[in-house]
Amino acid sequence: MNHLHVAIIMDGNGRWAEERGWPRTRGHRAGADAVLRTVEACPALGINTLTLYAFSSDNWRRPPEEVGVLMALFRTFLNSEIESCRREGVRMSIIGRRDRLTPALVQVIEHAEEATSDGETLQLRIAVDYSSRDAIAGAAALHSALPEGGTPSRERFRELLERTQHGDPGTPDVDLLIRTGREQRLSDFLLWECAYAELIFSGVLWPDFTGAHLAEAVDVFRTRDRRFGALPNVAARESRASCDIHL
Ligand code: IPE
Ligand code: IPE
Ligand code: MG
Repeated sequence: MNHLHVAIIMDGNGRWAEERGWPRTRGHRAGADAVLRTVEACPALGINTLTLYAFSSDNWRRPPEEVGVLMALFRTFLNSEIESCRREGVRMSIIGRRDRLTPALVQVIEHAEEATSDGETLQLRIAVDYSSRDAIAGAAALHSALPEGGTPSRERFRELLERTQHGDPGTPDVDLLIRTGREQRLSDFLLWECAYAELIFSGVLWPDFTGAHLAEAVDVFRTRDRRFGALPNVAARESRASCDIHL
């Protein structure tokens, strides 16, 4: 089967907590459990690469207390998952800027990446201090500083893009983008990489997301006729069952 890259905008933690009369940060803690459930479900669903949006560069605009809790959660999460990721063959990489993270967090990130670098079951990418527009602008700046000149091919630009965000240069484009939490927007996530991604917007708030929701999203994805600008695949369209989304 082909490589499958799923990306998720994990939205709705704050509202999940507020609906229960709890502080927003409790939603972020519950969101970390949903991450574990999601990662565990990936291999059986044929997902090879999973990119999770954990903290956008615009999320620095939130109150410092909330940002502090999120940063502490990333650190605890990475530290506590290194061993199980290594055991399960999950290769972790953190994409985004690192110069605004604390040295302690950067150290854990580097350790997590190094310790899990042999993993072949799943490539788990977590986007922290990530902005797609900044990454694209960074790749353009990187290219203009190179001696080769000219306009880069799409493939070459893609490599530069990964380089500006600490990504793996061979990462394929996103096939399926899921956003939980009712909003229907991209919020500066993987704009280049999602050029032909199938989009699924789910009403489920992220802390409620389960492996079953992910399985349903992959099922829906598999019914989509991806044309990439060519003509429809008539056979696929005719065999496609009508598809209700319960997500
Ligand atoms: C997503 O949940 C997590 C982050 C953006 C860090 P939110 O915190 O955005 O939750 P809502 O959208 O306010 O419910
Ligand atoms: C996007 O969610 C970022 C993450 C899920 C990490 P936001 O909650 O920050 O997005 P907006 O502000 O609703 O667009
Ligand atoms: Mg949100």
